[in-house]
Amino acid sequence: MSSVLQPLHPIGIGSLATNLVPWLSAQRYSRIVVLVDEHTAEFCWPYLLHALPQAKAWPLIVVPSGELNKNLRTCQTIWADLFEAELDRKSLLINLGGGVIGDMGGFCAATYKRGIDFVQIPTTLLSATDAAIGGKLGIDFLNLKNAIGVFQQPAAVFIDTFFLNTLPDRELRSGFAEVIKHALIGDPILWQYLQGIENLRAADWNYILPRSIAVKSGIVEQDPHEQGLRAVLNYGHTIGHAIESHWLESPSPLTHGEAIAWGMLLESALALYKGNILQQTLQPEVLTPFLERFYTFPVLDVQSVATLWALMQQDKKNSNGRVRITLPGESATTMRVIEPEEHDFLSLF
Ligand SMILES: NC(=O)c1ccc[n+]([C@@H]2O[C@H](COP(=O)([O-])OP(=O)(O)OC[C@H]3O[C@@H](n4cnc5c(N)ncnc54)[C@H](O)[C@@H]3O)[C@@H](O)[C@H]2O)c1
Ligand SMILES: [Zn+2]
Repeated sequence: MSSVLQPLHPIGIGSLATNLVPWLSAQRYSRIVVLVDEHTAEFCWPYLLHALPQAKAWPLIVVPSGELNKNLRTCQTIWADLFEAELDRKSLLINLGGGVIGDMGGFCAATYKRGIDFVQIPTTLLSATDAAIGGKLGIDFLNLKNAIGVFQQPAAVFIDTFFLNTLPDRELRSGFAEVIKHALIGDPILWQYLQGIENLRAADWNYILPRSIAVKSGIVEQDPHEQGLRAVLNYGHTIGHAIESHWLESPSPLTHGEAIAWGMLLESALALYKGNILQQTLQPEVLTPFLERFYTFPVLDVQSVATLWALMQQDKKNSNGRVRITLPGESATTMRVIEPEEHDFLSLF
């Protein structure tokens, strides 16, 4: 299996037939269950069945798609189905889907009978490069994203770029923001490659994904429980999450990646305003034209800017009541922390 990371969990990048099938036959699972949403049931399950015809005999749990269903109610139906399938502790749950299925299915597996193994088969670009890697699992609660969850590494992750073919363009663009983030954090060669991309459908994902994942997995390996360096993966996310929440109530919500792309731009501008010396790739005059190839950034009115600052103050990564923003440092996989004041943020607009 082509693996970019062994110690944390194996990551196979290539066809499922080449990677998943031999891995599974080397394991001794008593039972296997697959979790999908209605889209991955339609677009991804038939491909898995083709690679692994014996999967036809396994129970399939189908839950409704989308972030709105990443909650305790859906978990209850998943846990109930796991009991109905009589899974013992030597069983395996395969999560076939995007980040919602991976985070929620992983959480259900990690807590069912105090934990059974699970495998992530990410089917979106965002989950292949980010959500499926690193063992953060959870669900939303009381309108708070990922408020309840655990850290637990999957038994393995299998990435097959075939799944990207059916992914809507906007979802592809959303995941691409995390690929850009990984390149900026730790892979100048990947960054160079990305500069040549005009059309995401024509990009070579089999080249991009191993490099992008290697940045994330390398950082997670050094700091699995986010006590230090892992925070650099939040680049773009302090402002980006505020943007995402603010737009959630608008008639045209932004995807996660659209908000994060904008967040990276604003966080770089803020760091520069605060007098930091940034890597050349983080300079707004380099970053802006590249990001604008793929994303449009709406104009913000005064009221929205004030709302964003209020939302940033609620960010769970803050400490001692101060807004904390982490950006890539001066060399690869190092980080820089800034603590802007309200007037710094307002000065950007
Ligand atoms: N655990 C982590 O470290 C981590 C990191 C980043 C994001 N996340 C989480 O990931 C989630 C977002 O993930 P996402 O963007 O993959 O969203 P998602 O799982 O909602 O998938 C997006 C949409 O694409 C559909 N879909 C999935 N694969 C498809 C395919 N191959 N073809 C056609 N349609 C397909 C899904 O059904 C869904 O409608 C959020 O809940 C976020 O909190 C977690
Ligand atoms: Zn993200």
